[in-house]
Amino acid sequence: MQVYKSIETWRKARQQLSSGPLGFVPTMGALHAGHMKLVERSIQENKHTLVSIFINPTQFDNNADLQHYPKTLDADIKLLEEAGVHTLIMPNASEIYADDYRFILRENALSKQLCGQHRPGHFDGVLTVVLKLFNLVQPNKAYFGKKDFQQYLLIKDMAEALFLDIEIIGCETVRAKDGLALSSRNTKLSIAERQKASLLYERLRASKPIDDIAGALEKDGFKIDYVEEHADRRFAAVWLGDVRLIDNVEKHSV
Ligand code: PAF
Repeated sequence: MQVYKSIETWRKARQQLSSGPLGFVPTMGALHAGHMKLVERSIQENKHTLVSIFINPTQFDNNADLQHYPKTLDADIKLLEEAGVHTLIMPNASEIYADDYRFILRENALSKQLCGQHRPGHFDGVLTVVLKLFNLVQPNKAYFGKKDFQQYLLIKDMAEALFLDIEIIGCETVRAKDGLALSSRNTKLSIAERQKASLLYERLRASKPIDDIAGALEKDGFKIDYVEEHADRRFAAVWLGDVRLIDNVEKHSV
């Protein structure tokens, strides 16, 4: 696997890359089986697969969350190498934001709802960095997990609105045996919190009105940001201690 830490070096290498479809999996590291599903799919569908690891400061609305975001770089590199990834880029924030974040990509509707309502500026940071990464990587296809369904929709809409020639592919959420959606943040849960966390998926799938589901989650000890239905999905964001968990399910699976 070729590893590039400098944007300049990577851009030169990009020009030399032989032709054939390039699949891209953007990540913030702390890789788990959910990320690796995206990687596997990209490897199946493309000649080259490139993964980025970049903990994007502009999408954190809380500095403590940014400081404590899990970092497992050695293990990440091993996983990517074993999976057969061709290229890893790990740009640093001063290069990505050489403009001091003067240029921000903002969406004005969906990004203000659900997680956007509770994490002001979050999706501005996500869309801006993903657009920068798309410009650097110039992929044919890019892969995103549906656990972050709102993020997936916004990126898909952005690609369409800005005429990006990139196919945005959403991949099903990967879950632990007890149903908890895999997330890098799960490692921050205590043993007791981890046991309780699986109730989020269980409650979301109950065929009950969302107010009852929110009530049940509150009784279980979750602090609720939201439990809402939009179109054909049911979405929730909740806290267990300092850890924020999100999940969503299709309504017809309820
Ligand atoms: O889903 C993530 O890990 C991040 O939001 C992403 C897409 C890599 C942008 O920083």
